[in-house]
Amino acid sequence: MSQHDDDPVSNPSVNKHFSEVVEISMQRRRMLQGGLGAAVLSFFGLPALTRIEQAIAQGIPPAPSFLPISAAFADEVRLPPGYSAQVLYRWGDPTGIEGNMPEFDSDAGVSWNSAADQSVQAGMDHDGMHYFPHDSDHDDDHGHRRGKRRGKRNSGLLCINHENIEPEFLLQPVLTDADKVAKMKNAHGVSVIEVRQDDGEWEVVRPSKYARRITGDTPMRISGPAAGHAMMKTSADPQGRRVLGTLNNCADGSTPWGTYLTCEENFNGYFASTDPAAITPHMRRYGVAASPFGYNWHQVDTRFDVAVEPNESNRFGWVVEIDPKRPDRKPIKHTALGRMKHENAAVVLADDRRVVVYMGDDERNEYIYKFVSHGRLGRRGDDGEGLLETGTLYVAIFEPGRETGDGRGTGRWVPLVFGKNGLTPENGFASQAEVLIKTRQAADRVGATMMDRPEWIAVHPTSKEVYITLTNNNRRGTTPASANSPDGTTAGGSARPAVDEANPRANNVYGHILRWRESRGDPAALTFEWDVYLLAGDPADPGTVGAAAVTNTVGFPNFGDATYRIFSAPDGLGFDKRGWLWIQTDYGASQSGVQANMGNCHMMVADIPTGHIGRFLTGPNGCEITGWTMTPDQRSLFINIQHPGEATASTWPDRVAPPRSATIVITRNDGGVIGT
Ligand code: FEO
Ligand code: CA
Ligand code: CA
Ligand code: CA
Repeated sequence: MSQHDDDPVSNPSVNKHFSEVVEISMQRRRMLQGGLGAAVLSFFGLPALTRIEQAIAQGIPPAPSFLPISAAFADEVRLPPGYSAQVLYRWGDPTGIEGNMPEFDSDAGVSWNSAADQSVQAGMDHDGMHYFPHDSDHDDDHGHRRGKRRGKRNSGLLCINHENIEPEFLLQPVLTDADKVAKMKNAHGVSVIEVRQDDGEWEVVRPSKYARRITGDTPMRISGPAAGHAMMKTSADPQGRRVLGTLNNCADGSTPWGTYLTCEENFNGYFASTDPAAITPHMRRYGVAASPFGYNWHQVDTRFDVAVEPNESNRFGWVVEIDPKRPDRKPIKHTALGRMKHENAAVVLADDRRVVVYMGDDERNEYIYKFVSHGRLGRRGDDGEGLLETGTLYVAIFEPGRETGDGRGTGRWVPLVFGKNGLTPENGFASQAEVLIKTRQAADRVGATMMDRPEWIAVHPTSKEVYITLTNNNRRGTTPASANSPDGTTAGGSARPAVDEANPRANNVYGHILRWRESRGDPAALTFEWDVYLLAGDPADPGTVGAAAVTNTVGFPNFGDATYRIFSAPDGLGFDKRGWLWIQTDYGASQSGVQANMGNCHMMVADIPTGHIGRFLTGPNGCEITGWTMTPDQRSLFINIQHPGEATASTWPDRVAPPRSATIVITRNDGGVIGT
């Protein structure tokens, strides 16, 4: 029986203007009155499965009903009772490319595989991910039923980002500098693997005709208004339309037409300059500097030396589209979606079937964007090719609304269109291509709202309400205040704005989740209403959270002690088709100071109607939990464990060094639907 049936709805931000939320609450209430019982309404009761399935049959989303777990400092994956995790695809595992499947080879805590081996093995630092069921199983995220599921078998393709590298585990000292750079590039990018489930167990299909590794050197096409622009041309590509590689692939998106979107985040880190004078204000706005990551790629490959190739860095910072079912197709970098430190790309259809893509720029005091395509997706949903090449990019302005200080307000989307809103030649924008290559400066010019590090964005499957994690910000609210300059000359991450209603904490060490609802519920609308969904934190640390914030530290059921309720640095985010919000954290190994009680990074589930949140998973030492995707039957949940062992000892998952980032798949021991 639930320990907190009498727990009040603790989320004050279930606002009336979010009518869909109210509607779902009403559905729940009707369900309760209909005799399904209090256990269904309460988050962590354990109702009879038949009742949950009855609720699903009636189209009523059930509340999560697993037993939440507490924070943990353990070098393992922990789950609620009745769940198991299987390690599926570790860094160094063969991708499954026919005739080229070298096994992981390590000694003394370091990989001994060659750079060539690494090009056909799983990369490091698994991040965003999406499961594409084979057509025979397909009931995709966008509601297209494409065939019948056959019994309990599942099979499909997984696209997995490899965001970054851990050089201490990747590079055996005997490698030459050239081999080190080649191996580092090959440990980045994306894996496309084929996976299947038989009798409950998952495996990577090897070999598979779909198996593919996309790396820091894979040829790709540049699309959209900036393709061919002078700022995109290099000595190796005088046309400015072909680029090698994708880097720092953070989070992801997927399209209704079955393609994968991978987002280039901290691309600046790979570039360096042998001449400090070569760093322009434009480069500085994106954090391109002398040698941000210190990887020294420029010493081997001059395209990473901005003094030699001043435009190569302009060819990174984009959203890249990959067709997982067509390994022969080049990935496409879509310049129409803007250039920034992209986190993810949340795709949804507007009422008129234009394609809308929500995107965050993850750096302190950067912005939230959305792209709206010019073209519309056909009714069959399979004709999306080209839709991401032409459209309008908007940036968000959050305003306080009628009242100040109530944690909600209104907002508007400002188009970043050449010739409008000061995006003119006299202000440094000579064309739409330049507006897109200098997206940050364009957003500075129109006065967009500086946010507390925009990470993932997720769109509720029925209400289309949009949620974003703002992971933290230690450059707000302290003096002297400063803003991103409208002339675009501010260095990336250097502003120090005052608090505002949408970013209400000075020195926001724990992060928060904001949400908005577009006018008329139409993702293509140009105005919206927003509110703060939750302020993460530690209930035992009211001094740091701030008194107002404690009142508004919403969403925690009164379950157990504070070790169940603390959480920090929300980052990965996604709705499943029931409308449950999965929240993943990234504070790495920084478990000192205010993070000391947080335990290892973890994953929560939020029940939007009640505001209740519970911890579903805790990860091994030093990891980040990131990336999230489910099979259509909702009985298998894929999660990525990124960089275990970062700044703290871990031997996960092999129980021998080196620790290895990995995709895991979580199932219920009885084969049931996850979370119910
Ligand atoms: Fe790659 Fe902002 O996380
Ligand atoms: Ca307000
Ligand atoms: Ca992230
Ligand atoms: Ca993060």
